[in-house]
Amino acid sequence: MAHTPIETVHIHLGDRSYPILIGAGLLSGPGTWADLPRGSSALIVTNTTVAPLYAAAVQAALAAHFAQVHVLALPDGEAHKGWEALNQIFDLLLGKACDRRTVLVALGGGVVGDMTGFAAACYMRGVPFVQVPTTLLAQVDSSVGGKTAINHPLGKNMIGAFYQPVRVVCDLDTLQTLPARELSAGLAEVIKYGPISDMTFLDWIETHLDALLARDPAALAWAVQRSCQIKAEVVGQDEREGGLRAILNFGHTFGHAIEAGLGFGEWLHGEAVGCGMVMAAHLSERLGLVDMAFVQRLTRIIERAGLPKVGPALGVETYLHHMRVDKKAQAGDIRFVLIDGPGRAVVRGAPDAVVADVLQACCAA
Ligand code: NAD
Ligand code: GLY
Repeated sequence: MAHTPIETVHIHLGDRSYPILIGAGLLSGPGTWADLPRGSSALIVTNTTVAPLYAAAVQAALAAHFAQVHVLALPDGEAHKGWEALNQIFDLLLGKACDRRTVLVALGGGVVGDMTGFAAACYMRGVPFVQVPTTLLAQVDSSVGGKTAINHPLGKNMIGAFYQPVRVVCDLDTLQTLPARELSAGLAEVIKYGPISDMTFLDWIETHLDALLARDPAALAWAVQRSCQIKAEVVGQDEREGGLRAILNFGHTFGHAIEAGLGFGEWLHGEAVGCGMVMAAHLSERLGLVDMAFVQRLTRIIERAGLPKVGPALGVETYLHHMRVDKKAQAGDIRFVLIDGPGRAVVRGAPDAVVADVLQACCAA
């Protein structure tokens, strides 16, 4: 198995710039852990599903560089992305007398990555952390760009910080153990980069979708690399979502309403985003920004990726209610990421009546 990174994408943020290593065999590769900030200890934060698969390999590799390498396996699932699990991280750090040079290593999907990043931002006012994403969704999106958070009972990802990792390590081998439903959920975030930024990439996804679903290593490698390149370009221009970065939320406004309306966990985040992209494409068409051929093409790709294309029957008012508390909403006015011609996104409002029409057309009766 290869140990050399096949590609490195750089994210340019001045003195907070960092590399995203993408390749096979990286968890135990000798180059992966070199040049990290040097303290006496590291803490691998993972969960009870990922720990038995990959924690030993990372712990052994880190042991060459740190005198002490602790492992904390949190309970698995979005339901545990809250204060209790976060406090387990602080309890361990303080219990082991970890100092401000301790390096946190987030080994897992977006839940582990977001929580560990937030813990790193807070512990002793900030310690270095490395993202080691093991889901496709985390490799192409959540591990890159420094959004960290936990959930509050009244809202998802509402308590958090912008805090960049010092490195992202995308070991493509880890995707081989991912459940098929999680792979499809990750594909939603891959697909989103096409319509918002790069139609050539959407062409490539359309051609290679079967290879991606079959976990062909070369196809996965390019999907992760191109996604990270696009995200790095956007975040490099607008780290704190003053404007441009919001385009990365294509499909997320409708998707958030699906997740919240059904109860978080019923649909996976990526499933809701996939269906949300279908809805947002229809809304773009109703507003005269794209033609129906574009909407139909995107819908076919989403369906082929194993994602739902019909929204749950929550009722228009429930959708509107949840979309009004989306983080992009301004004074209760919903703002959507729409496609303003293939490959170009715009963030804007839309009349409630048009949104209601789209919801009626795109949801189960
Ligand atoms: P997740 O972290 O819950 O992981 C999905 C499931 O896959 C879990 O059961 C996990 O234990 C399991 N798993 C992880 N890696 C595995 C592997 N290699 N083999 C087998 N099983 C594995 O979910 P996710 O989709 O990775 O992330 C969703 C989270 O990410 C949400 O909380 C969302 O809010 C967040 N998110 C954050 C950002 C950001 O910019 N920070 C962006 C998108 C999503
Ligand atoms: N996932 C959207 C963002 O990072 O901004």
